Amino acid sequence: MLRVINVVGARPNFMKVAPIMAAMQRRADQFEPLVVHTGQHYDTAMSDAFFGDLELPQPDIYLGVGSGSHAAQTAAVMERFEPVVVQEKPDWVLVVGDVNSTLACALVCVKLGVRVAHVEAGLRSGDRTMPEEINRLLTDQIADLLFTTSEDADHNLLGEGIPPERIRFVGNVMIDSLRKNLERARRSRIKEQLELKDGEYAVMTLHRPSNVDQRETLHRILQALENIAAAIPVIFPVHPRTKKTIAEFGLSERIENMKGVRLIEPLGYLDFLSLYSAARLVLTDSGGIQEETTVLGIPCLTLRENTERPITVEMGTNKIVGSDPVKIQREAMAALNGTHLQNTRIPPLWDGSAADRILDALLEVSSD
Ligand code: UD1
Repeated sequence: MLRVINVVGARPNFMKVAPIMAAMQRRADQFEPLVVHTGQHYDTAMSDAFFGDLELPQPDIYLGVGSGSHAAQTAAVMERFEPVVVQEKPDWVLVVGDVNSTLACALVCVKLGVRVAHVEAGLRSGDRTMPEEINRLLTDQIADLLFTTSEDADHNLLGEGIPPERIRFVGNVMIDSLRKNLERARRSRIKEQLELKDGEYAVMTLHRPSNVDQRETLHRILQALENIAAAIPVIFPVHPRTKKTIAEFGLSERIENMKGVRLIEPLGYLDFLSLYSAARLVLTDSGGIQEETTVLGIPCLTLRENTERPITVEMGTNKIVGSDPVKIQREAMAALNGTHLQNTRIPPLWDGSAADRILDALLEVSSD
């Protein structure tokens, strides 16, 4: 019997841990799982809404760290997580993704000599100004077991000197969640509420500090948004960080008055899945949405200069367009005219069974 702490902290963690928890509960003769929520995200829309949608059990332990500077937030997670690990004595701690909670909890474990596994290891944007890139690099250096979503991630890890026996290519747990919930998401009423018809709208999400904390960049992206919205309605669920900076830069009135732009609150998992899965086009700076649109065959324009998920560009529906309004608009029009990337494929092992492969590997490594 393996006792495992599964860590969640911020919005993109919930859909990665949900299938792992479900698999562990199914295999209750082999696994004794706990969920620890650091509280990095705490708003109902950013956190609570996801537990019900994803059938993720309520956290066994809630650390309540909240927002803060990177140092303050990382330190608070470490301070509060350490006594939990000491008390619960897990065989493994599982961390997912690349948020501050991921690195903080991995660091606690390695110092305590508790084995830690990183799910979604090896992704690299090559851009060290991204806080997530630092979290990814450091977590992978110290974790005992690294689960990857694509083979380019394996190559990145090997290139950083990680021994091959620590790396397992298992596929994509985020896609486990997508496949499991596609049918349930059809029952969402969000499109009716917003009076939208399938294929007749675009969706935009934006929250990266490099886009939303820089006035000039945000301004350029909003210019592109305005141009695209003249051609197709754009639904824009606004992340709290983005809402804050739009207000601080005095841009609220401009964006609220843009014709064709619908600003809404952040959506839960099922409503958002229902919304983007029927969109004509998605514009985003999220990592996960690049993967989800690739699986669903929805054209995706990534509003960044790089991606840690190159497989979505090589095989999938993703194009990297940066923040140049001319380029964004040109690529958006190509997508609307049906000349976006053709003959795209779903990457290997994005098949809905990644969580079980992770559990199998944990058992195998633990019996060595
Ligand atoms: C974090 C992750 C990012 C991930 C994103 C998804 C890090 C470094 N960043 O970014 O990788 O893609 O989550 O959303 O871990 N806030 C609220 N309510 C909340 C949470 C945050 O209002 O529930 C506001 C606060 O003002 C906070 C700001 O959003 O200061 C930013 O939150 P934070 O957790 O620092 O980073 P995110 O931008 O959400």
